[in-house]
Amino acid sequence: MIHSSAILRGNVKKLLDDIPNQNPLVLQLGGSDPDDLANAVEVASDYNYNEINLNVGCPSKKVKSGNFGVFLMKDIKLLSNCVRAMQKKILVPLTIKCRIGVDDCEGYKFLHGFISEIKDCGVATFIIHARKAISALDTKRNRSIPPLQYDAVYEIKNAFPDLKIIINGGIESIDQVNSHLNHVDGVMLGRKIYADPLFLCDVDKNLFNESTASPIEALNAYMKYILNLEDNGDVNRAINHLMVMLKSLSIQKKQRNKLLDSLKDTNSNMVDLFKDFQVNLHQKNPVPNL
Ligand SMILES: Cc1cc2nc3c(=O)[nH]c(=O)nc-3n(C[C@H](O)[C@H](O)[C@H](O)COP(=O)(O)O)c2cc1C
Repeated sequence: MIHSSAILRGNVKKLLDDIPNQNPLVLQLGGSDPDDLANAVEVASDYNYNEINLNVGCPSKKVKSGNFGVFLMKDIKLLSNCVRAMQKKILVPLTIKCRIGVDDCEGYKFLHGFISEIKDCGVATFIIHARKAISALDTKRNRSIPPLQYDAVYEIKNAFPDLKIIINGGIESIDQVNSHLNHVDGVMLGRKIYADPLFLCDVDKNLFNESTASPIEALNAYMKYILNLEDNGDVNRAINHLMVMLKSLSIQKKQRNKLLDSLKDTNSNMVDLFKDFQVNLHQKNPVPNL
């Protein structure tokens, strides 16, 4: 999520510059000022995004003090104004990521009314985290303590068959994904992908019938991707994900740490390190066919 004011008053090129070969890309905006959000949408139209999503699901303290994120579910009139203002400037689809409720704004009647009003502003796709948010809980607890209520999302799909409804929250396996797809149009995975990025190879194979990348090929492609990153912060974040991937491929801790230490050494050449590591991976450390 990028706040509208960061786009209007920050380093927009650094924030929005698209990464080659990464489309389809979605830009997620946060904010609650209709003019600012509309202007941010206009600025973003110069960049290569395929969809703009408005965050109406985040319950963090910072978000609460700014009265945006999930707190917009309590002020549907303000949210409608934001959405209508954004629609005037947008060239790609505008989608909403929300929860099933927040604090005492909850229950089927509330959610139905919420979806109905925002749909009338021209939104056709909702990504719904199937638990409510509770203001008194911190962000992390808000991702586990309020119970998941998948049925509430299924009921919304039944009530609005023309809308694209994507379910989110606690989904971790292909079987679970398939089961949800019997009721809704799509599934969004969050923490599962963060904890196990190579699960996306399973997703490609089992859900999209694409078996082009094996986990090893995906890993090698990811190393290539890291080599093309320009910003040191981006490289460091990407290396963290790389380490998670190596762990899931059962690469020994000793070997992972050795690579990590070499990558941290500013005198080392990352291209050579990755090249050596790929050779190692293939020759000395054959990985079972995953
Ligand atoms: C580290 C972290 C960062 C997140 N950042 C965002 C965000 O920027 N925007 C958003 O809509 N949701 C964000 N989420 C919430 C996820 O999109 C998702 O709704 C939530 O984790 C529940 O789905 P899951 O059980 O599949 O993880 C974040 C979650 C985590 C763990």
